[in-house]
Order: sequence, then C-alpha cells, then structure tokens
Amino acid sequence: MIDSEALLKRSDLAWMGQNTTHLEPPAEVVEALLESTHRREFQFYAPALGFEELRELILADLGLPGQAAMITDGAVGGLHHICTALAPKLSRLIATDPGWPWPGRFVQLQDVPVTAVEVYSAAAGYKLTAAALAKVIEPGALLYLIDPLNPLGSSYRRDELEAIVELARDHDAIVVHDCTYRHFADGHTLVAELYPEATLTTYSFSKWLGLAGLRLGAIAGLPGLLGRLTAVPSNPLGASIVAQRAAIAGLKVSGGWLRELRRVNRRNQEIVTEAVERSPFGPVLVRPSQGNFLAVDIAGHGWTADQVCAALLERDVFIRSGTYQSPAFGDRFVKVSTSVPTPWAERFAAAWAGLEPR
Ligand SMILES: Cc1ncc(COP(=O)(O)O)c(C=O)c1O
Repeated sequence: MIDSEALLKRSDLAWMGQNTTHLEPPAEVVEALLESTHRREFQFYAPALGFEELRELILADLGLPGQAAMITDGAVGGLHHICTALAPKLSRLIATDPGWPWPGRFVQLQDVPVTAVEVYSAAAGYKLTAAALAKVIEPGALLYLIDPLNPLGSSYRRDELEAIVELARDHDAIVVHDCTYRHFADGHTLVAELYPEATLTTYSFSKWLGLAGLRLGAIAGLPGLLGRLTAVPSNPLGASIVAQRAAIAGLKVSGGWLRELRRVNRRNQEIVTEAVERSPFGPVLVRPSQGNFLAVDIAGHGWTADQVCAALLERDVFIRSGTYQSPAFGDRFVKVSTSVPTPWAERFAAAWAGLEPR
C-alpha cells in the first residue's frame, strides 16, 4: 500500500494517483460544511441509514425513483457491507483484472472464491464481455461490475449490459454495479434499470464531488434486496452528519459543477494524452476515458510500473502503478488521475517528458 501519510505531508504534490478531485469545490458545499460545524452537528449521531433528504437526492440523481438507498461510509464501506452480509450465500465473486481489488478481498475473508476475468485486451474493449463471463458464471455468483472501469476507463453500452444481465438472470446471480465514476461518463446505463430485482448500485461522493476525506457513499436497491443489508447496517450509528450536509449541498448544485468538472477533466486528459504520445511510452489504453483517469501502457521500455511512479514522485507527481489493481498486468501500466488543476496535468507532462527508455 502507498504511504499516504508521508505523501500528505508533501503540500506541493500533484495528487494524480487516487482519482480524487482537487478543484476549488462549490461554495455551497464549503458553506454547508462550515455551517454544520458551527452548529456543532458533529456532536450527534446521524440516522442509521442516513438523512432521508440525502437518500432521495441520490435516488433522483441516479434516476431510480422506485428504489431505496442507504448511506455508507464511502462507497467502500457499502461494498464491505454487501460482501460481508451476502457472503454466506455466495458461490463465488466474479470481478475483472484489472479492477478494484477490495470486494474480492472482503469475500475471501469468508472463504468465498474469487474469479478475476482478464480484460486487458483491445479486442475485448478493455472490459468484461458476455462471452468471457459465460465461461465463469455459476449459480449463486456475485458479479462485481465497475463501470466506468477503474483503472482502464472503459464503460459498458446498454446492449453489452443486457447480454451480461441475461447471463446473471439465468444463474440467479446478484450484480453489484459500482458506479463510483458514473458522473464522468459521456453516457451511462444502470444495470438496475435492466435487472432491478437482483442489482445493488454503489455510489460515491469521493470523485465527482471531491469529498474523499469525508467518507460518504451509498447503496441503492429495491427494498427487498436492500433489506438484506439494512436489517443490520454496518454502521448503525450513521455516517458523518457533516459529510451528509456537504453532500446534500453538492447534489443541489450538481448541474453547473459537473459541467465545469467534466470540462477540466477532458482538457487534462488531452494534456496527459499528448504528453504520452510525444514520448516513446504508451499508448493511453482507452480513449476517451469515461472516468477521471487514464491508463497508460509502459511495457517494452525497460521500466516497471512501480519504477515509473517512483520517478514521477521524485518530480512531485503522484500517479498510480498498475500493480495496485492488477495481479496479471500491473507491471505494464500506470494510471493518471485527471480531475485536478490543469497546472498539475502540465507538471505531469513535463515530468513524463523526462522519462527515457532504458
Ligand atoms: C471502483 C471503486 N469503487 C469504490 C471506491 C471507493 O470509493 P469511496 O471513496 O466512496 O469509498 C473506489 C475508490 O477509488 C473505486 O475506485
């Protein structure tokens, strides 16, 4: 794991390694944080499932009005709870490699086997195909589908999701649709629209609203399925009240904020892509990335991904090695987060230009 405590001490670091957002936040969000703090709301516990207003705003944001939501300590708190609560009835967890490793690790604690389908392939569109899923799916499986996919930046079209859902339905599989990066995508279909009876949608405020340090997320699902999680919440004392106030304020001004966020994100992706194209390294694997990050192949030039990241860190740019997210391909790519101030993207470009093949 990275030593984020040491990195946080470096106030001049371009923080492009965790897909967090570092733009000036909406004034309304900061105001809500200050007001909640001044009212000393931090002295209270929140309702176990979160404020009703926040849950309704999240469901409206997702466009899932018939569903229910519970607020969690970050999306990862929700994922941990899903994995813990459902594990005893799961036959297997199916994820992707590359992907995000934590749900697999959570279910493994309860001896649930994990299959990570390899998706580092242009032919597969750098994502899970129904054909690949058909080879591994089994009755009672849980499919953990990250969309847009961190770290590659691919996203699923509606017809692709329909084919995946058909397989899930045939095998009574539950789908966890991790929508942490949905707000950065040009278009996005929710699995919950196609397979509501067995889909849990996970939601995060860390990326699109830039609240990573406040630890706030949610799970949405039909009341019956969500009831398996709300019966015994993982945090019955409720997620941070202060964070929930900030999230409510952010959702109320999300239209203007997202327009600007997406504009800056795209611009920075262009700067990073141009820097990669001018260098012997590359390519950027998925263009345009549907997330706030780009994956860059670095194989064939005498560098490992960890070495590239270390070299950039010396130049005050923190990017992420593929080894964090891919046992099979981690050495051959790095990930660069782009919802950051444009001078950081420019600093990345200058630092990248200093990398020479060995
Ligand atoms: C795919 C994915 N899911 C969940 C999370 C965790 O989000 P949160 O900060 O809301 O816990 C991340 C964070 O990087 C992620 O990449």
